[in-house]
Amino acid sequence: MADVEQLQQDYLAQIAGADLAGLEEIRIAALGKQGAISGLLKTLGAMSAEERQEQGPRINGAREAVTTAIAARKDALESAALNARLAAEAIDLTLPAAATPQGSVHPVSQVMDELAEIFADLGFAVATGPEIESGWYNFTALNMPETHPARAMHDTFYFPDRNAAGEEMLLRTHTSPVQIRTMMAQKPPIRIIAPGRTYRSDSDATHTPMFHQVEGLVIDKDITMAHLKWTLETFVKAFFERDDIVLRLRPSYFPFTEPSAEVDVGFTVEKGKRVIGGDPTGPNGGWMEILGSGMVNPKVIEHCGLDPDEWQGFAFGCGIDRLAMLKYGMDDLRAFFDGDLRWLKHYGFSSLDVPTLSGGVGA
Ligand code: PHE
Repeated sequence: MADVEQLQQDYLAQIAGADLAGLEEIRIAALGKQGAISGLLKTLGAMSAEERQEQGPRINGAREAVTTAIAARKDALESAALNARLAAEAIDLTLPAAATPQGSVHPVSQVMDELAEIFADLGFAVATGPEIESGWYNFTALNMPETHPARAMHDTFYFPDRNAAGEEMLLRTHTSPVQIRTMMAQKPPIRIIAPGRTYRSDSDATHTPMFHQVEGLVIDKDITMAHLKWTLETFVKAFFERDDIVLRLRPSYFPFTEPSAEVDVGFTVEKGKRVIGGDPTGPNGGWMEILGSGMVNPKVIEHCGLDPDEWQGFAFGCGIDRLAMLKYGMDDLRAFFDGDLRWLKHYGFSSLDVPTLSGGVGA
């Protein structure tokens, strides 16, 4: 049995040079079920008492020596690996932080925020409505008869299926259905603006099939066109951040307002560019249409379940993309919706630059 010591020496020598995978192989070869030392331990049972007294400590000693050596080597290998990793992955806290890509606020969102801020100051709440509307909300309730040209297939995006009530469904062509929803949902007095997406079958440099409008609606007992004019003037001056802006109301026609007015804003050409403000009747001046408006048609008020002898008010609808182009100097509407990061980077606004009246609504 001199080979017990020999066996132990051999294993210890192998362990000293083994890697982690090698250690496991050695453990199985020596101490596993079929292992050499395990085999020797099994022979103890067949021995005489004296023999066992002599061999037992030798074999058990070998088992212990090999077990301890494997554990020690494993520990050493693992801590060496950890130290190597720590050294390789050291973080230099004095380095500047890596730049994180930063998004920006789209000009349309920026203008919507500016509108909300300006009109909040005048006591207007923000209302919203669905972009998928029924023909009733989008047209009929707004006094647009079946024969109205805006209802034509080639102007409006209709859905092939009707809703559960059998109504034709479509992508709203303006934000005016929010007037109806608001008057049906809340009691006057009402002062709301409703910014949002609208859709028409149109596409060129100044028209996209999806665009944005903001609706305005005021319903109370004594509202007149004077309130409309003052409100629009106050809004336009705050939005374009100039006091020398004049408006011109031109008689017009909308089925849902009576009387109706299209509103032009005075501009002047400064350094070859049109800017809102200045004298529109001067040599560099002119008028530009910016919105439609009027006194809410009594028929519309009635459709919403309100008494037109008790309640009256004004409404207006204005293109938001157009406002953004005029204020921030973009000339192609299509670029608004291309998602070109270079354009967004150039015209986008910082998310921290929240519009406020005191700080100037424009970024
Ligand atoms: N809905 C009209 C349009 O899209 C604008 C408008 C709104 C006119 C409210 C009058 C009153 O052209």
